[in-house]
Amino acid sequence: MKIGIFDSGIGGLSVLHEAYHMLKDTEYIFYADTDHVPYGSRTPEEIRHFSDDIVKFLINESCDAIIIACNTATSCSAKFLRSKYSLPIIGMEPAVKPAIETNDSRRILVMATPVTLRETKLKKLIDRVDEDHIVDLLPMPQLVNFAENETFDEDKVTEYLDKQFFNRSSKDYSSLVLGCTHFNYFKPYYRKYFDETTSFIDGNRGTIKHLSDVLKIDLNDKDLVVDFKDVDDMLLSGNTTYYFSGRKASKEELEHILRLHKRLESVRKI
Ligand code: DGL
Repeated sequence: MKIGIFDSGIGGLSVLHEAYHMLKDTEYIFYADTDHVPYGSRTPEEIRHFSDDIVKFLINESCDAIIIACNTATSCSAKFLRSKYSLPIIGMEPAVKPAIETNDSRRILVMATPVTLRETKLKKLIDRVDEDHIVDLLPMPQLVNFAENETFDEDKVTEYLDKQFFNRSSKDYSSLVLGCTHFNYFKPYYRKYFDETTSFIDGNRGTIKHLSDVLKIDLNDKDLVVDFKDVDDMLLSGNTTYYFSGRKASKEELEHILRLHKRLESVRKI
């Protein structure tokens, strides 16, 4: 089974990373459209156009199914892509429903890109599930740039989050919905503002679960251990081919990817 996974950039690695934990014997093509990142400040037409090119590329690489590991691209192009191509195309949307289902008496903060927050897909979802009007929306475009530049540097990120989270705390929120795949990298920072009573909910596990339902693949009953001992291990394991806007990743880029996987592993249980 060969699965294509794409995103505007390295955010989609958080979905691939979860797939590593959940699916055995799967081959992946990972495609980060870094020539065009961030999608969050593009027009829906541009995003559709980029997504269409990527899907063509992945089909050409003989993928059996595709995951749009990007909430922004899903909101602008999933419908269009599914009408054009016959292979299974799994999208992502901010996990508002699970957040509402597990909510207590507090509110829910949905963080995403400006495009995802503006698009009708999310509006419709909120209209459907947010009967008590407890969902607040917060655009966080700068986190995408930070993640792309591997800026996990304390001061800059904290400075930004101080502004974004101003006056928000666990007193108000039962959960933060991470509605952009780039946001997982920053989970340790969110904890500085929200204590353990606030959960951070992303759509990664749900997306892999959905893929396995559609393709009727058995999920492992146990979480698989991801053990990237060193870069060579990862290069040799050969179950994933990484592309940056159509170019195969270089050795340096693979080292960058490995660092990001390690970060994802370290924040996974937060
Ligand atoms: N990672 C993407 C998402 O899930 C989009 C980030 C961007 O390119 O703005 O929405």
